[in-house]
Amino acid sequence: MEPLPKLSSLTVLLLSLIPLSSGAFAGGVRVELTHVHATAGDSEAKLIQRAVASSRHRLSTFVDRAPLHAGETEYIVDIAIGTPALAFSALVDTGSDLMWTQCPVFDPSKSSTFGSIACNSTLCTALDQHSCNASCHYSYMYTDHSYTEGVLATETFTIGSTSVPSLAFGCGNSNNGVAFTQAAGFVGLGRGKLSLISQMGLTEFSYCLTPLGSRKKSSLLIGSLPNPNATAHPVMSTPISFYYITLNGITVGGTVVDIPSSTFAINRDGSGGMIIDSGTALTYLEYSAYDKVADAFMAQIKNMNTTDQSVFDLDLCYELPPKSTPDTLNLPKLIFHFQGADLELPPGNYFGVDSDTSSICLMMAESSGLSVFGNFMQQNMQVMYDLGNDVLSLYSAECG
Ligand SMILES: *[C@@H]1O[C@H](CO)[C@@H](O)[C@H](O)[C@H]1NC(C)=O
Ligand SMILES: *[C@@H]1O[C@H](CO)[C@@H](O)[C@H](O)[C@H]1NC(C)=O
Ligand SMILES: *[C@@H]1O[C@H](CO)[C@@H](O)[C@H](O)[C@H]1NC(C)=O
Ligand SMILES: *[C@@H]1O[C@H](CO)[C@@H](O)[C@H](O)[C@H]1NC(C)=O
Repeated sequence: MEPLPKLSSLTVLLLSLIPLSSGAFAGGVRVELTHVHATAGDSEAKLIQRAVASSRHRLSTFVDRAPLHAGETEYIVDIAIGTPALAFSALVDTGSDLMWTQCPVFDPSKSSTFGSIACNSTLCTALDQHSCNASCHYSYMYTDHSYTEGVLATETFTIGSTSVPSLAFGCGNSNNGVAFTQAAGFVGLGRGKLSLISQMGLTEFSYCLTPLGSRKKSSLLIGSLPNPNATAHPVMSTPISFYYITLNGITVGGTVVDIPSSTFAINRDGSGGMIIDSGTALTYLEYSAYDKVADAFMAQIKNMNTTDQSVFDLDLCYELPPKSTPDTLNLPKLIFHFQGADLELPPGNYFGVDSDTSSICLMMAESSGLSVFGNFMQQNMQVMYDLGNDVLSLYSAECG
């Protein structure tokens, strides 16, 4: 059992809420997210170091097709459970479905709204590992050997200032995992039956993630999408299927990288493809493509020396000239050609700064079987999921 983290330093601010009778989240609920380590006073370099490590950890879970482990670079939201409401912090994870909390901390017998779930309910059978006697017992494993086990039940959750009754959640009486020191539970935003989004029948959510180390809070809008000023923020859209996005090619500087169109396709056995994920920091490319992208950067960055001194465990790093940042250096531009959307990224979204060794590193790594559009590249972007229309839209924004 991991101890419940101190909640006092974390705040939920309700920025906009229009309660309507047609549904708890009609109009949308906006909550702020805290970067897990933003309050710890760590340097950005430390945070990126951890981001790299936890991305690697997390990617292995994708490959195993299990619910995702949430690393140390996750975003957390403060919500409450039960009646009377008990506040707890939860990792916000688009990569898994189950909402759960630590039941030794939340005591169901002290709540008047706790309800049980029948074993033959579709919510119970939606769990890969469940067993039945009087109630629905679940075991939810994460492939880094983290797990939560307990009883699937229902409770009232308070999100922002909205109370939502009868949400299925895992009342975890046996929980173990490094990630669980960060928060007392999870809010899964995946597309399976048990996710918050699915249970509420919502089809829209969006987030805007502040950079690693930023003191500003990120925001999560559940149940509606922001309405951007299209003049100020040109919006780009690309189709999604689950959270897969179609990447057709990559441009580095003036070079269209020579990547066969099949590289990022989903294979018949379900491997391959690229997903967008809020919980993985690095962007992972299928290794054949990664090599060519890294080569293209190396060929075009001639005015800086490479270095292997960086504490980041990444392949391509350069000495950072004094008083410069990725955005002030004349780095090759990077464009991801998604279907219908050519996304040109600011250099600060693909080069991370290691201030300890005055170096910058390309925040990408190679993978095999699945590519991931990670959260470092999604910084300072409004990312909008329209699941009703299977469209992902993005625009650059100053988050926080
Ligand atoms: C579940 O089991 C109960 C009791 O056996 C039964 O009344 C109910 O119809 C079942 N529900 C479903 C969804 O199968
Ligand atoms: C149901 O299962 C739980 C956990 O496996 C066990 O503790 C409990 O005694 C069981 N109850 C019955 C009625 O078998
Ligand atoms: C939208 O943005 C443009 C450009 O920044 C600005 O001129 C215009 O006033 C904005 N419109 C609204 C309705 O805010
Ligand atoms: C690269 O390294 C060489 C040899 O150490 C040095 O002379 C040169 O000034 C460095 N170039 C830059 C741009 O830092």
